[in-house]
Amino acid sequence: MDRVGLAVFAEEVIQGLSTEPKRLSSKWFYDEVGDDLFVQIMKLPEYYLTDCEFQIFEQQRQNIIEGFDMSGKDFDLYELGAGDGTKTLELLKGLRNVEFTYKPIDISIHAINNLERRVSREMPNIQVEGIQGEYFDVLAELDSLKPKVILFMGSNIGNLMDSQANDFLKRLSRVMNPGDKLLLGVDLKKPSAIVLPAYNDAAGITAKFNLNLLTRINLEFDANFDLHRFRHAPEYDEERGWALSYIESLVDQEVHVKALSKRYSFKKGEKIFMEVSRKYDDDTISAITQNTSLDIVSKFYDQQKYFCDVLFEKQ
Ligand code: AVJ
Repeated sequence: MDRVGLAVFAEEVIQGLSTEPKRLSSKWFYDEVGDDLFVQIMKLPEYYLTDCEFQIFEQQRQNIIEGFDMSGKDFDLYELGAGDGTKTLELLKGLRNVEFTYKPIDISIHAINNLERRVSREMPNIQVEGIQGEYFDVLAELDSLKPKVILFMGSNIGNLMDSQANDFLKRLSRVMNPGDKLLLGVDLKKPSAIVLPAYNDAAGITAKFNLNLLTRINLEFDANFDLHRFRHAPEYDEERGWALSYIESLVDQEVHVKALSKRYSFKKGEKIFMEVSRKYDDDTISAITQNTSLDIVSKFYDQQKYFCDVLFEKQ
């Protein structure tokens, strides 16, 4: 990570561990190890989100692309939080005879590099220009008159609380021109028996993914979090549709973050809030898109209706 990024991370760690209740942001999960663990999560049997969205692209690719309504236009295809690109490539298969540049954006430089390599290997005809950065910071780069389609898949938006998601979509909409499209992937509300295992898999990969942020703080800031004294503790609020991820301290303890000259004490049972993974319904989709000038063109569901890709057009 560059110095500016590291300074922001440091500040957020200090902020988050000094407040009650303690929190850390899931956006810091994605270092090299975190990227790799998330790729493993997407392959877990319990993590239905990826399979459902893959199925949507596989089975409804042509309808989705027709919905983009970009034939005959030279356009930019942006992707926010691109990850490893498996699902995107499934969608891009349908764009063989169209003129476009694929511009994946990801906070992780490893993810961008891997993706660029993968696209040029598997789909050498596609022009790809990766952009490294946080969503908010790169919005300015999207501000051009060229027609664009923006992919924001995987229910990545679900890591934001609704008001933040709405703010983000307002800002995103401001860099879109009339006729531009947004394809937004959202995980849908469903029973706890399905959602909770997706965030508490039997193989323990999600636990590792969550706890890896403590390891990252140990490495970046010379801290001494002992991973045996914390555990992954996910919850699902079925009524609200919030999957919440916590790290719980197993004992009373103090952690020293040397490089930041800070000490933090944890009570036995105390939890650090790590991540929200919002599950949506029609009302919450409306809530996060209110006052954005984005109109719904169509909704694409998997067969079980676990997941939805919503296609919006800018007014
Ligand atoms: C990448 C944000 C969609 O919230 O489901 C997976 C991240 N966290 N398992 C999600 C995640 C724990 C994932 N998103």
